Amino acid sequence: MERYSDETVIVTGGLRGIGAEIAKRLYSAGASVAIIDMADEENAPEAIENMHLTSEGGNVCRYYKCNVADFEQTKRTVTQIAKDMPKVTMLVNNAGITRDGLVMMMSEQQFDDVISVNLKGAFNMIKHCSRQFIKNKCGRIVNISSVSGLSGNAGQANYSASKAGLVGLTKTVAREFAAKNITCNAIAPGFIATDMTKDISAENNPLAAQIPLGRPGEPADIAQAAEFLLSASYITGVVLRVDGGLGM
Ligand code: NAI
Repeated sequence: MERYSDETVIVTGGLRGIGAEIAKRLYSAGASVAIIDMADEENAPEAIENMHLTSEGGNVCRYYKCNVADFEQTKRTVTQIAKDMPKVTMLVNNAGITRDGLVMMMSEQQFDDVISVNLKGAFNMIKHCSRQFIKNKCGRIVNISSVSGLSGNAGQANYSASKAGLVGLTKTVAREFAAKNITCNAIAPGFIATDMTKDISAENNPLAAQIPLGRPGEPADIAQAAEFLLSASYITGVVLRVDGGLGM
C-alpha cells in the first residue's frame, strides 16, 4: 500500500519550479495532488504532462485555476477540491512572486501585490483548508518562506516582509491548531535554480559564491524537505533552512 493512498495534498503554484517538483514527489509517494496555479485550464494538461508524474498507486492529479490572493476564489476552490478528491490532509503554500526594487523606488502596487500573493495567499489557503483538516483529523501544512525573510535582502523589502510574515503565520497556526493534530512548518530555501531566479546567474550573484555546499539548490532539494515535513508527526512551528549552508 502506498504511503498516502487515500490522501490529497494541495500545492499552490504547483505548475512549475519548486511547486511542480513538490507535486511530483508527493504523487510518486502515492498522494493525490491538487495543483493550484494561475494558468488557464486548457494550458494546464501540457504543463502537467511535462512534469512526468509517475506512481504505482491509483492516485490522481487535478488542476485548479485559482488566484491564491483572492479570498472568495480560494474558498470556492478548496470546497471543490474536497468534493473531487480523496481526503485533504496536506497543504503546501508555495505560490509566490517577486516585484523587486529599492524602497525609495518601490510603488505601493509593488508592495501590495507581493504581500497579497505571498502572505495573504497562504492565510487564505490555511483558513479554508483548516475545516477539511479538522474534519479529517489530520493536517500537515508547509509554507515556503525564504532566507530573504530571515536576513532581509536589499531590493526586496516587499518580498522579505512577506516571507518574514510567513514565519509568524507558521508559528501562530502551529500553536492554534496543535491540539487538532494539525502541524504547520516553514521551509526557507536559499538560492534555487528556477524561472524566478533565471535572471540572477550563479556567477553574478555574490551570495552564490558563499554557498558552503558549492552549488545553487535544485527544486528537488526543496521537495525532499517538504515531503519530510509533510510526513513528520511531532515537528511543528519550525523554520527549516534549505540553503546549502548559506545561513550558518
Ligand atoms: P516560480 O516563479 O518558478 O513559480 C511560482 C509559481 O507560482 C508559478 O507557477 C506561478 O504561476 C504561481 N503563482 C504566482 N502567483 C500566483 C497566484 N496569485 N496564485 C496561484 N499561483 C500563483 O517560483 P519558484 O522559484 O518555483 O518559487 C516557488 C516558491 O519558493 C515561491 O514562494 C518563492 O518565493 C519561494 N522561493 C524561491 C527561491 C528561489 O531561489 N527560486 C528562494 C526562496 C524561496
